Amino acid sequence: MQIRPQEFARRRRELMRMMGHGSIAIVPAAREKIRNRDSHYPFRQDSDFHYLSGFPEPEAVLVLVPGRRQAEYILFCRERDPLMETWNGRRAGPEGATREYGADDAFPIGDIDDILPGLMERRERVFYTMGNYSEFDQRVIGWVNGLRAQAKSGMHSPEEFVSLDHILHDMRLYKSKPELAVMRRAAAISMGAHARAMRACCPGMNESELEAEFLHEFRRHGGVPAYNPIVGGGENGCILHYVENNRPLQDGELVLIDAACEYQSYATDITRTFPVNGRYTPEQRAIYELVLKAQLAAIAKMRAGNHWNTPHEEAVKVLTAGLVKLGLLKGPLGRLIKDEGYKQFYMHRTGHWLGLDVHDVGDYKVGDEWRELEPGMVMTAEPGLYIAAGTRGVPKCWWNIGVRIEDDVLVTRGEPEVLTGALIKQADEIEAYMRRTAA
Ligand code: GLY
Ligand code: MN
Ligand code: MN
Repeated sequence: MQIRPQEFARRRRELMRMMGHGSIAIVPAAREKIRNRDSHYPFRQDSDFHYLSGFPEPEAVLVLVPGRRQAEYILFCRERDPLMETWNGRRAGPEGATREYGADDAFPIGDIDDILPGLMERRERVFYTMGNYSEFDQRVIGWVNGLRAQAKSGMHSPEEFVSLDHILHDMRLYKSKPELAVMRRAAAISMGAHARAMRACCPGMNESELEAEFLHEFRRHGGVPAYNPIVGGGENGCILHYVENNRPLQDGELVLIDAACEYQSYATDITRTFPVNGRYTPEQRAIYELVLKAQLAAIAKMRAGNHWNTPHEEAVKVLTAGLVKLGLLKGPLGRLIKDEGYKQFYMHRTGHWLGLDVHDVGDYKVGDEWRELEPGMVMTAEPGLYIAAGTRGVPKCWWNIGVRIEDDVLVTRGEPEVLTGALIKQADEIEAYMRRTAA
């Protein structure tokens, strides 16, 4: 399953229509990053660049010039080079860029200084996002300044810099059918990995062994981790961004796993929390069921017409009321919500946009107001409660219970569609599943 060239072409057309004639957009590919000495991090294409091109290589620049007769979509990329390709892998070359990636014209990246200023000349507006790649920012500024310096000799230079993110990131916020198909596939792989971890888990296992179940499942289906997996047993489940994943899992504790794959560049984001030995203690179950109730309440609010913050407000209400009922918070509900008394146990928000980036682009507010939810937006629902050891006023039996439940939700014209809804999350279902599959 892949996003087809027609879909990339549609996106470019739509962007160019919004940019209007008299403009030019410049989008650089991601850079390769050194991990240590001669080893690189796995290359991950820049999300904006990928969204518009599907071109998978570094050292490339996409240029859109709406209305230009000879070529509106120009790609600069590395040239073919048999020796380099023998060492470092295949390259499309300019010919492949036009033949396989739909560029109207393509040039070697080494020629960009000679060609790009000419494409900018006579354009009024440059759409470019500053701040992502500082060296490239300097080059863009250099090209414009070069044109300005030649103004006396009749050269026309752009008047205006416009940040490309505004329109491009708004486009990315609304997922198309082909994007949703890929996201459903990413979700299926990730759900399979969580189920596999529930089957494999037993006391004495190391957190890293559970992480390995995810990596195996992702890779065998062509995915990669969308973010560093969090596998936290017991007290580690109360550390929000715990990524060491290197401690043995103890009988009687919970394990919180926030792990999901990226497939065809699209992310999923799933958290499940289950008992290492397959049975929740009464306190673990009480907190688990409260978080689940809050999550379901939040998801029910992920409907077109509600504003972005409604699901979070709903989750906070349910969690706070539940904590009062369990005796973990004291005081009037309204006051605890207003003064954010719940933050001792629930210190993050209930979700974020999801797409090419796990924390995807798109504004959460329009002016001072929370944005209205619309069909096609995908967001996470991820309330949690974290009771660290030593929390004052909280009896010991509640310590080290860290629970988060996270699913990915598509806003539709009707009911919210939980893309990751096929993965079990009722406490009883999880216990039954772990019992059935215990080795
Ligand atoms: N896995 C990152 C998050 O839940 O936002
Ligand atoms: Mn998330
Ligand atoms: Mn997550």
